[in-house]
Amino acid sequence: MEVFHQPGEVRDHVSSMRSKGFSIGFVPTMGALHRGHIQLVNRALADNDVVITSIFVNPTQFNDPSDLEKYPRSPKEDIQMLQEAGCHVLFMPSVEDMYPEKVESVRYPLEGLDEVMEGAFRPGHFQGVATVVNRLFDIVTPDRAYFGEKDFQQLAIIRKITDWRKDQIDIIGVPTERESDGLAMSSRNLRLSKVHRAQAHVIAQALNFARDHFREFDPKALVEEVSKRITVGTDLEVEYVSVADSRTLKPVSGWANCDSARIFAAVFAGDVRLIDNVPLF
Ligand code: PAJ
Repeated sequence: MEVFHQPGEVRDHVSSMRSKGFSIGFVPTMGALHRGHIQLVNRALADNDVVITSIFVNPTQFNDPSDLEKYPRSPKEDIQMLQEAGCHVLFMPSVEDMYPEKVESVRYPLEGLDEVMEGAFRPGHFQGVATVVNRLFDIVTPDRAYFGEKDFQQLAIIRKITDWRKDQIDIIGVPTERESDGLAMSSRNLRLSKVHRAQAHVIAQALNFARDHFREFDPKALVEEVSKRITVGTDLEVEYVSVADSRTLKPVSGWANCDSARIFAAVFAGDVRLIDNVPLF
């Protein structure tokens, strides 16, 4: 695996691969890699001749500076995992290269997609994500880029910003990789206490209950039922549970006026914030 730090090195490599007629798949990450990330790499390897993964802990998407500082970094282990997976190129840019002028976000008109759920609780977060992903796309110029459904709202926003680009990058959503008890894989899971780790599976369990039984409730009652299933008998705290339209991400008020819905949850286990979502229909 080639490891590049300079955007110019990636651009040169990509143009040489393109001149050979190779397709390029891209997996943007912030490192601290786990099986969920590797699932994206595997999917990219199946679809493309060349796979490029990036690791960049993007300062503009953290609304809390201490969260940025606490973000886990494990470059050695990450490199080994990517090598074992068969990734061809790793791009690890510096903050100066990604933000040559000021470390701040561009403001994109995200049509309200960034105002609900994660956007409501993490102001500015998605503008930071949109800014860095656009810059990464400008450098890597992939044919296809891979994002996890674990961050479904992020995936929807990336699809929106990609629509505005001329280069027609194909955005591929990859289903959430889970631990054996159902907990969605996340680099934050390592920070869970033993007690919280043992309780955290109720999040996926409650969301799966919703998927299997949603017709027995209206959306509001379903949210209440799922919140109850997460909190009763645990010390988890629900930040939000939301039933939302899969396309607009707006809350759904009844089943009849919606083609496709998902249920989303953000839950605190102590100071560790966990998110998950599953499709309803
Ligand atoms: P990060 O949290 O490192 O995630 C990188 C990619 O891995 C995202 O597309 C995320 O949805 C996916 N992912 C994480 N956990 C997953 C799981 N359990 N199953 C499947 N996919 C999973 O998301 C980001 O980084 C950043 O916001 C980024 C897009 C890189 C922009 O900075």
